Amino acid sequence: PRVIYIDAQGGEFEADVAVGQNLMEGAVDHMIDGILGECGGVMSCATCHCYVDPAWVSKIPPASEMEEDMLDMVIDPESNSRLSCQIDMTEELDGIVVRLPKSQF
Ligand code: FES
Repeated sequence: PRVIYIDAQGGEFEADVAVGQNLMEGAVDHMIDGILGECGGVMSCATCHCYVDPAWVSKIPPASEMEEDMLDMVIDPESNSRLSCQIDMTEELDGIVVRLPKSQF
């Protein structure tokens, strides 16, 4: 399935992300700038912050309490902010659009 990552400058990158991988891994594997994933996906770094396109928000499971706590620490949080390491790819998410923040720091 495909993921469309859009960076803060509007650049669009389409990546094929395997089912079972999460969107942080998908970005890192395709060397997409804007997602760092420093902690490797264990919810301790928040450098995988992204904004899920509003059309897709309802199609992914809601954030856990721990994820919400981490999202309190990111720069420029929005109501559609998520940690991309907590979004697992599924066939249903083919074509999901996520936007990347200006900076992960
Ligand atoms: Fe560290 Fe997502 S990769 S919180």
